[in-house]
Amino acid sequence: MRACFLISRYSFIYFFISLPMLQINDVNMGITMIKARAHSNIALVKYWGKKNIALNTPAVGSISLCLEALYTETGVLFDPLLEKDELLLNGRPATEKERSRVSSFLDIIRREAGSRQAARVESVNNFPTAAGLASSASAFAALALAASRAAGLELSGQELSILARMGSGSAARSLFGGFVEMHRGRREDGRDAWAEPLYPADYWPLQVIIAITSEVQKKTGSTDGMELSRRTSPYYRAWVDSSEDDLAAMRAALAEKDFQKLAEVSEFSCLKMHALAMASNPGLIYWSAATLELLHWVRTLREQGTPVFFTIDAGPQLKIICPPSYSSAIVDQLSGHPAVERTIVSALGPDARVLGA
Ligand code: PMV
Repeated sequence: MRACFLISRYSFIYFFISLPMLQINDVNMGITMIKARAHSNIALVKYWGKKNIALNTPAVGSISLCLEALYTETGVLFDPLLEKDELLLNGRPATEKERSRVSSFLDIIRREAGSRQAARVESVNNFPTAAGLASSASAFAALALAASRAAGLELSGQELSILARMGSGSAARSLFGGFVEMHRGRREDGRDAWAEPLYPADYWPLQVIIAITSEVQKKTGSTDGMELSRRTSPYYRAWVDSSEDDLAAMRAALAEKDFQKLAEVSEFSCLKMHALAMASNPGLIYWSAATLELLHWVRTLREQGTPVFFTIDAGPQLKIICPPSYSSAIVDQLSGHPAVERTIVSALGPDARVLGA
């Protein structure tokens, strides 16, 4: 029996016409490569901690911004002549670890589509993967969209978000543009843990400046880090219990377009997540000296009257958010800052989409 991960009409159809579906999908597969583009995102109210590792359901909800400047384009072709899945990442053959993570994800789609065909997958990021910028979010969102279409499935935004979540928690948010909320869900099977758009990108045009402090890969990935925090951090329960208050405060800040409130809630959630991570055993310290230096720099700027705030994910880069009219002056000042290697500036981005469709 296949795993029913979607609240979908396919679950219903399967019991009645499973054989014909299998044939139809196998005929449709392997004709053309379907390509999709999904943008990266950064969380203002952070996700850290999993409820169920196998289903990849989050212990807390989150709210994010979609980044126009950072995206992944992924092509998928199911090919009856292939013996196993093939994966090209940024033009080079993937490692066995990367390939098997994508293969496991494709297995979910194959089960849903009733097919056994292997796929050729080609994925390209338009941003440096080595900088530790969340590439799994845009990568799994683009893969979910391209692979489901290539397999002949027409999934709703909600179904795609659930599917992308199985690859990476933050990928569930990368299906949508603008401001996005991810629900932690209450069900054991994870069918209500999906993201939905709150406001489109033009609702409140903010700009995000990514200050790259070093291009080293993080030592502890998010899955291992989250599990360590869940098992060992004395702050974990308080983190989960206080998450609903942060989400409510963020929804209010967005509804009122209150920048000061947006800044306060975002920095609170970010610093709380890092305090939780640091209080794990052994402590997870994602910051470098440069991160800390820049964090103070942003706060001083805000004290002096510039509407600006920071957020930091599981790595040393600082993401700085401000209204567009302040962005170029901030970038100019950052360019001469010794802690900054370089900057990437992004507006808020659009929904994920199939290319050429
Ligand atoms: O989606 P993952 O497993 O890469 O986890 C993302 C975790 C953070 O980036 C630190 C926070 C978030 O909500 O994106």
